[in-house]
Amino acid sequence: MRLAEVSPDLEGARLARPVRAGRGELLLGRGERLTSARLMHLERRGVRHVYVDDDFLPALAPDPDLDEATRVLVGRSLRRVMEGAAQGEGPDMGEIAAAASRLVAAVDARPGSLFSLSRLRAADEATAQHGVNVAVFALLAADHYHLPEGERTVLAVGALLHDVGKAFVPVEILRKPGPLTADEWDVMQRHPEMGHRFLVERAGVDARVAAVALAHHERMDGGGYPRGLSEGQIDLSARLAAVADVWDAMASPRWYKPSFPHAYVAAHMRSSPGLDREAVEALLARVALFPTGSFVRLTNGCLAWVVGQDPRHPAHPRLLLLTDGRGEPVAPYVAELAGAATRVEAALPALPRAVRDNARRHLDRIARLLEDVSVDVPPGEEERRPARGDKAPSDGPAASRPASP
Ligand SMILES: [Fe+2]
Repeated sequence: MRLAEVSPDLEGARLARPVRAGRGELLLGRGERLTSARLMHLERRGVRHVYVDDDFLPALAPDPDLDEATRVLVGRSLRRVMEGAAQGEGPDMGEIAAAASRLVAAVDARPGSLFSLSRLRAADEATAQHGVNVAVFALLAADHYHLPEGERTVLAVGALLHDVGKAFVPVEILRKPGPLTADEWDVMQRHPEMGHRFLVERAGVDARVAAVALAHHERMDGGGYPRGLSEGQIDLSARLAAVADVWDAMASPRWYKPSFPHAYVAAHMRSSPGLDREAVEALLARVALFPTGSFVRLTNGCLAWVVGQDPRHPAHPRLLLLTDGRGEPVAPYVAELAGAATRVEAALPALPRAVRDNARRHLDRIARLLEDVSVDVPPGEEERRPARGDKAPSDGPAASRPASP
């Protein structure tokens, strides 16, 4: 199984995991063969990545993700709030609080793990799914601060609702494919205040929840909006939501842009003076910078397959080396990079044909090596380790494990 960019090269490959539309409807199921018509359909729906089965690499357990049932349920609750807001209706805050608690439980169920939230999804329904993702990323980053349970739930509610003000922005502006005019940008920049007013006047929420909606575009260097706050004037919850917002906006596909590789997003965020550095590092300690199943190039020129994560070293995944430093295929072997001078340099969309053919000749060896890969698995994760000959679950971790209570 490998994580691959949607491109004509994938014609003939079989899907290793299903692809869903924004509301959870199945676009293509596991095992479906990708034809050129299906690939074009996926591109039109904004799906940029898929997991495909190859006959040259065995199945792997994917990185932790939000389970599909929780994603669909929380997304539905958030969409109801957004649609109601546009009609002038106040939200059912009991439903949103339950959704937020479910997200807290889902994150708590995988302590210390490195997450890769699914990119296998059409780009429609972007606002609701963005809210869900921002809440999960904010909670992951919040682990670093050891917040009490109540504050984490407040953070999850605030992060879920951070963009509720977009319900009041005309859809022609929200979905405009090109750059916004000055007037349109002015309207767009009012969404934090409109969201804040809605939450205070119509939802009667905790002031800390409304503050996240108001301040999630404020920046540490004073360059944000609407009030141009800086540093300590911005609540921790809003700083965490800002970091989660930027991560998801860059790492997820939108109808007007592809998703960027995690390592690229990480580098961008580390060099952004407007983001809280500590919050950025807190988030980057909990996401897989090179997701399991992807191909990478190392600084010494070797090509490798990411076969697992080491929670202590998000930038140093477990690797199966497939070539030497000149890119020549070799008998695959496992390498440990933590502590070494060599680093992962970049994610690759695909492997050269000669490398794939060589891996196919070594399938037995690869399966044996995967059995011995030492991944430091956080508590509760042991059952996710792939056994030799295991197939990927039909719907990733979601299908095999119900949501946490
Ligand atoms: Fe926003």
